[in-house]
Amino acid sequence: MTAPGEGLARFVLKPLVLAGCLAPFAWLAAGAAGLGGVSLGANPVEEILHSLGRWGLNFLLITLCITPLRQLTGWVQWMRLRRMLGLTAFFYILGHFLFYVLVDQAGDLGVIVEDVLKRPYITLGFTGLLLLLPLALTSTKGAMRRLGRRWQRLHRLVYVVAALGCIHFYWQVKADVREPLLYVGALALLLGWRWWKHRDRLSHAARAPFERAA
Ligand code: HEM
Repeated sequence: MTAPGEGLARFVLKPLVLAGCLAPFAWLAAGAAGLGGVSLGANPVEEILHSLGRWGLNFLLITLCITPLRQLTGWVQWMRLRRMLGLTAFFYILGHFLFYVLVDQAGDLGVIVEDVLKRPYITLGFTGLLLLLPLALTSTKGAMRRLGRRWQRLHRLVYVVAALGCIHFYWQVKADVREPLLYVGALALLLGWRWWKHRDRLSHAARAPFERAA
């Protein structure tokens, strides 16, 4: 027997979200190849580097919206999108890093190592990428089963990665910090929601024995 809305989630929502995950990449690839009249502006290297980073952060925050969405709507099928969205975030962030290494710095290892060690916003971004690696590697159903409760604990690192990504964005902005602050605000809201839910669960657990006795 299928759960309510399972067909809708698998055959309609998932393909639509997958298309949405790939659309920014397709747009950047079309711009880079000069196809479909897509223009990446006067500085295409900067545009691609920034867009990959931005979409990486967008997808991290969208992934963090899935649990609140499930809690608010009561529809468990949202959870089917979580892995795809998380892996999409990883895909864009890895692309952002590889583009920085291979194109922006033309593979100059000396400059890259110096940047990672001496420029705080790059140190933070790099730390975020390193922390994201074990999450991507353990995103399979098999790893989830093998790790059990430890999987959940490990995957809480995604909050740390999102926070590092926001600070990395904030620190690299030269003048107008309004946009990175919007991301900080969105992350604060998502974390606040989780903290509130967690507190709610704890107070329910504390009240339960008295309610049962009454
Ligand atoms: C969690 C990991 C990361 C996230 C979420 C992230 C996200 C971002 C974002 C949102 C931007 C600004 C885009 C814009 O202004 O529109 C950015 C810029 C940048 N990021 Fe990352 N990034 C990450 C990791 C890295 C890594 C590993 C490197 C390189 C080692 C890196 C190098 C850069 C560079 C060079 C810029 C452009 C700075 C400039 O033009 O002054 N990032 N990143």
